[in-house]
Amino acid sequence: MRLVFVGPPGAGKGTQAKVLCSRWSIPQISTGDMLRAAKAAGKLPAELVAKMSSGGLVPDDVVVGLIGQRTSEADAAGGFLLDGFPRTVPQASALDSLLSSRGQALSVVLALEVPRELLMERAVLRRTDKRTGQIYHLKYKPPPPDAELEHRADDHEDVVRNRIETYEQMTAELLPYYEERGLLRRVNGVGEVEEVTARILAAVDKNPRAAT
Ligand code: AP5
Repeated sequence: MRLVFVGPPGAGKGTQAKVLCSRWSIPQISTGDMLRAAKAAGKLPAELVAKMSSGGLVPDDVVVGLIGQRTSEADAAGGFLLDGFPRTVPQASALDSLLSSRGQALSVVLALEVPRELLMERAVLRRTDKRTGQIYHLKYKPPPPDAELEHRADDHEDVVRNRIETYEQMTAELLPYYEERGLLRRVNGVGEVEEVTARILAAVDKNPRAAT
């Protein structure tokens, strides 16, 4: 199964990806996580750090390169879930070329939909445990007392607003791209985490290509 998760900042892509990847034993491949890891290791050029910090997108060739390499690793041979990639039509088209050169195709593209007014609260109160990568929320999923909490540099209100705007501009073209190809499934991302997971599973079940 090769899935793509599309959704605005704070929609719950990372939260749901962890549940689904564990259920299906496939890797979660998040360009955001890879870029943050490169930044933490001091390997992300300053102009890309600045892009991320302001809520903009890093250039397509950078993320396409990361995905090409990561999806060729052994643990991705049986499938993967792409979290936050592609975000633009050139990225989607590069992914199509990459997969078809390997005789592969996407199974389904899941668009997680959450109204703007909930996104800000979800992103601003998010905290991540540095050691485990587990995602918490100060209101909806409080972290345990021993967690080593991190507040993402781009989770401050003004940057989240820019990220939401960037997302809205980008999906104006990306979602129709996948809709035309019959791959897009829209899923309501509001409700308990378990309810959203159940909706995603139902959406994937309905997709004839989901088992490929
Ligand atoms: P990235 O890391 O991909 O961030 P994002 O897409 O903005 O998404 P988030 O990680 O903010 O949200 P999420 O949907 O995963 O939500 P989560 O599950 O954590 O990208 C960061 C940056 O990297 C970009 O801005 C860009 O600069 C760059 N980048 C990355 N990919 C790129 C690409 N392809 N091209 C160019 N640039 C790229 O949940 C959020 C919070 O809500 C958590 O606290 C969680 O506990 C809580 N929550 C989740 N579900 C629920 C629920 N059902 N009810 C209540 N709370 C919930």
